Amino acid sequence: MRRKIAAGNWKMNGTAAALSELDALAASISDDRATVVICPPAPLLYRAVECTKSSPIQIGAQDCHVQTSGAFTGDISAPMIADTGAAYVILGHSERRDAHEESNSDVRQKVKAAWAANLTAILCIGESGDDRAANNTLDIIGGQLSGSLPDATTAENTVIAYEPIWAIGTGLVPSLEQIIEVHDFIRARLITRFGADIGNAIPLLYGGSVKPDNAGTIFQAENVDGALVGGASLKASDFAPIISALAAS
Ligand code: PGA
Repeated sequence: MRRKIAAGNWKMNGTAAALSELDALAASISDDRATVVICPPAPLLYRAVECTKSSPIQIGAQDCHVQTSGAFTGDISAPMIADTGAAYVILGHSERRDAHEESNSDVRQKVKAAWAANLTAILCIGESGDDRAANNTLDIIGGQLSGSLPDATTAENTVIAYEPIWAIGTGLVPSLEQIIEVHDFIRARLITRFGADIGNAIPLLYGGSVKPDNAGTIFQAENVDGALVGGASLKASDFAPIISALAAS
């Protein structure tokens, strides 16, 4: 049995007023069959940890620097994230790979930095619309996996999120067959590289326009162990039914 994880990526949304959504979300979680992680903007991390202390919600960041400290204005290191009490960090999101030109090798260094601070990495991979149109999806995914995942990857230190870039924030969702194809491919690659025990245990999330009305269908896929959710994680009333659909899957 793999861990089921519903992770919310708030991106650059939310000030202190948004923390009330965490209270509402905590109140709506009725069982522990799915791990729930919320990744708010960095200025909210400490307060989010404090206000979820007596709830099952875990807190994560959205990026970290590869170094632990130094002259890197505006950046945040993994030990700083861990110091807030957060336990996860999203790494290699397509918005970082794109707008901040992060390469697979940059992302791999960040994953190692996260582990060194005892954070669980949520590693994002995904093809562009052009890659898919050119039938390059599996090549791109395979390259991102081998380039971004360090050798010491385990099911405890890493979660992988497959997020087709063309599905993020667009309302477009791949067909269930397309999701199954990519998730099965990722699982096979993980088993080949890390062995059956680790490869079968690493949680694989789907991300990209997951909503309450499509989550149940997406969670039917055998190798989908949860979701990384952007827009629909901002309101507890949207995220709670996604968590329930995951728990029931
Ligand atoms: P979305 O974002 O759910 O708003 O499409 C997903 C993500 O970027 O993680």
